[in-house]
Amino acid sequence: MRESLPWIWYVEPEVLQQEQDRIFRRTWQYVGHMERVSEPGSYFAGRAGAVPVVVTRDREGELHALLNVCRHRGSVVARGEGRRTTLQCPYHAWTYELDGALHAAPRSERVPGFRPEELCLVPLALEAWGPFLFVNPEREAPPLAETLGDVPRLLADGGVDVDSLRFHARTEYELEANWKIACENYLECYHCAVAHPAFSAVVDVSPDAYHLEASGATASQFARTRDGDGRGQFHFVWPNLKINVFPGAANLSIGPVLPAGPERSVGFLDYFFGRDVANGWIEELLGFDDQVGREDAALVASVQEGVRSGLVERGRLMGESEVLIEHFQRLVADALA
Ligand code: FES
Ligand SMILES: [Fe+2]
Repeated sequence: MRESLPWIWYVEPEVLQQEQDRIFRRTWQYVGHMERVSEPGSYFAGRAGAVPVVVTRDREGELHALLNVCRHRGSVVARGEGRRTTLQCPYHAWTYELDGALHAAPRSERVPGFRPEELCLVPLALEAWGPFLFVNPEREAPPLAETLGDVPRLLADGGVDVDSLRFHARTEYELEANWKIACENYLECYHCAVAHPAFSAVVDVSPDAYHLEASGATASQFARTRDGDGRGQFHFVWPNLKINVFPGAANLSIGPVLPAGPERSVGFLDYFFGRDVANGWIEELLGFDDQVGREDAALVASVQEGVRSGLVERGRLMGESEVLIEHFQRLVADALA
């Protein structure tokens, strides 16, 4: 039986600081989908880990990911989403072109040596997989495809054509737990029979029917329904991305869990469905997933309360049932080593 990571790593601010540096500032982060920047002159703001980013499509139609931090005194520049010809900082009204170039700074003509060309919004790495946009704060990042590994193929083999999906809605959530506790909870279904009665009534969660597989930066769970007809896939992409495909009509949800402090996380899920999926079915799935999400939120908050107590050094991992957690914890430990 393997020991878990030290529980102090789920509580200490210094550990989170290191994770921000060594994990979140150099990994691919899902930020949003292509429809949000379909037109020239459109943008949306988001986050890659703790880094504020803005994704734009400039007038020439080219996509950019920019550090959403004003080069003057550091205010976040753009909020929300929409269409603009320029992005204007709300603090002193410096305005930037959609490719990041500084267009105007009030009173700059009175400042000797002011060089706008040195003060553009910092460009970040941007890549798309189908309709899904990813940003990496590390400009020299290895290609996104290396991180995604087999996931695109596994989805295609499972009958999911990501390019035919339509965005439906984003849901957001907050968790009273360290981001790693939230990820680990996602990475096993050992708790499903106990904690998710509605899910377990539909999905066969027994260890011989529920299949776990980890390789490289990804960890995948393959499920089938109790009637044997439906197939589900739940993929995790290092360090913090969930990709869910439930049994039934064409569906996919994707989104990260992000640290919001040592003992708090935030996350969102973007839901996509096939063009001809009935509204009733969509509502049913959203309700079902919301129920599972609320059950998980209580579980992870309860874990946080326990690991914070400080009297036990580590937990234990249950072999094959928690093999994806082992894989995740190894990636965390390697990143922080
Ligand atoms: S901080 Fe952006 S204009 Fe001053
Ligand atoms: Fe769960």
